[in-house]
Amino acid sequence: MTNICCKYIIIKQNFTITIILKPIYNVQTKKPSTENSSKDNTAAKAWSGRFSEPVAELVKQYTASVNFDKRLATFDIQGSLAHAQMLGAQGIISAEDVIAIEHGLAEISAEIQTGKFDWSVDLEDVHLNIEKRLTDKIGDAGKRLHTGRSRNDQVATDVRLWLRATMDEVLHAIQQLQLSILDLAEAHAETIMPGFTHLQVAQPVTFGHHLMAYFEMLKRDAGRFADTRKRMNQLPLGAAALAGTSYPIDRERVARLLEFDGVCQNSLDAVSDRDFTIEFAAGAALLMTHLSRFSEELILWSSPRFGFIDIADRFCTGSSIMPQKKNPDVPELVRGKTGRVNGHLIALLTLMKSQPLAYNKDNQEDKEPLFDTADTILVTLRIYADMLRGISVNKANMRQAALEGFSTATDLADYLVKKGMPFRDAHEVVAQAVRFAANAGKDLAELSLTELQRFSDMIDEDIYKVLTLEGSVASRKHTGGTAPEQVKRAIREARDKLA
Ligand code: ARG
Repeated sequence: MTNICCKYIIIKQNFTITIILKPIYNVQTKKPSTENSSKDNTAAKAWSGRFSEPVAELVKQYTASVNFDKRLATFDIQGSLAHAQMLGAQGIISAEDVIAIEHGLAEISAEIQTGKFDWSVDLEDVHLNIEKRLTDKIGDAGKRLHTGRSRNDQVATDVRLWLRATMDEVLHAIQQLQLSILDLAEAHAETIMPGFTHLQVAQPVTFGHHLMAYFEMLKRDAGRFADTRKRMNQLPLGAAALAGTSYPIDRERVARLLEFDGVCQNSLDAVSDRDFTIEFAAGAALLMTHLSRFSEELILWSSPRFGFIDIADRFCTGSSIMPQKKNPDVPELVRGKTGRVNGHLIALLTLMKSQPLAYNKDNQEDKEPLFDTADTILVTLRIYADMLRGISVNKANMRQAALEGFSTATDLADYLVKKGMPFRDAHEVVAQAVRFAANAGKDLAELSLTELQRFSDMIDEDIYKVLTLEGSVASRKHTGGTAPEQVKRAIREARDKLA
């Protein structure tokens, strides 16, 4: 009687909770069938001997992570396979158990991949869902898999395995974007545009050189992810709940099987710290910051005021009211999504900052920011590589803009210095020449030799070589300079290194 009564209450609770929670949690709450209630029991049994009542429905929804951590399933299975093999090799479980576990996990893996796996929020997380399914399939052997292990070292391992694979994808996507930049930079190694400081025309540069600045930023971004990957690639398994385990485990063997470079050296640290997620998020925030700067430029350059570039229509949208508009939505969204990724970094830092050793449930909150960070940067990198291929350049507008604003004034000063005038004096002479030219409505290169010589008798006919845009950029031919020959060299070297 009591049982029936309880069931009824649970059904009623479920019903109410479906209605209340659906918009917030998006949890697939099912009407409990007999099968489900048996799941309930077994799930509860993981710790229920100590409990006198089942967990409250709302608490179950609140604490469950399966709706998002099921994404770790492949890695959870990989980790379990390696753990089982080690347990077998060490004689902790039998060879038959290992075989049964392997078969069971292979079937489960197929079920997950074909979408046939029945994820249950009653079983809290990805680990308990898979373990329960395994036990349903193979019985006691499934129950022995968790020997010498805890969900604490299990989840720490899964997240590292997932992040390692994800970072490899990120590194590849960065490389693809870098290649896209190299192609555009190569096509415009000689295209002249104004270089800006304070968003005011400063000195002429080549467009290829300007683009290569972003190549360099991405190179450092890739380096940061590679560093994180290397530091993170240590195996937590074996730490168990926090203090290690009394079984004669072989952690090095598990590390080798899972291609870790070594094992975490402290069990408390292994299960509790998530600094690698923070490093990844920090790397992602910097990457997005770089792409956001780039985006800001694409937005400015494509605006009719600048008219430097055109972004292919497939990356833009129109306005529902102003027929003339073509909006650079993609770069704007990249700029906007940078805020979201920065937010995830802060979320992860805040999540970690007050946690005493060792594992705390807080850590379950690392997954959603982590997953969203990875998804956001991957799609951004891919779309960016594509978008750059759809950029066309209006060289005439770029050149015209470089002619405005006396961008070769520094070249005139340098010319005088090379003829023996102290730099500060040269600076003053040029300031006066610029003032004169501005009043006459001319560029420096448009002043006659006689006009120029009014400011210094050191000026000769050869001044026109340095006052032209081409002369100015060509003279900056040291490593890292904007001269076309240097830009081409930088592109060549970059291609060699990427290959
Ligand atoms: N779902 C948990 C997480 O993501 C797994 C570890 C749970 N461990 C525990 N002692 N409750 O962190």
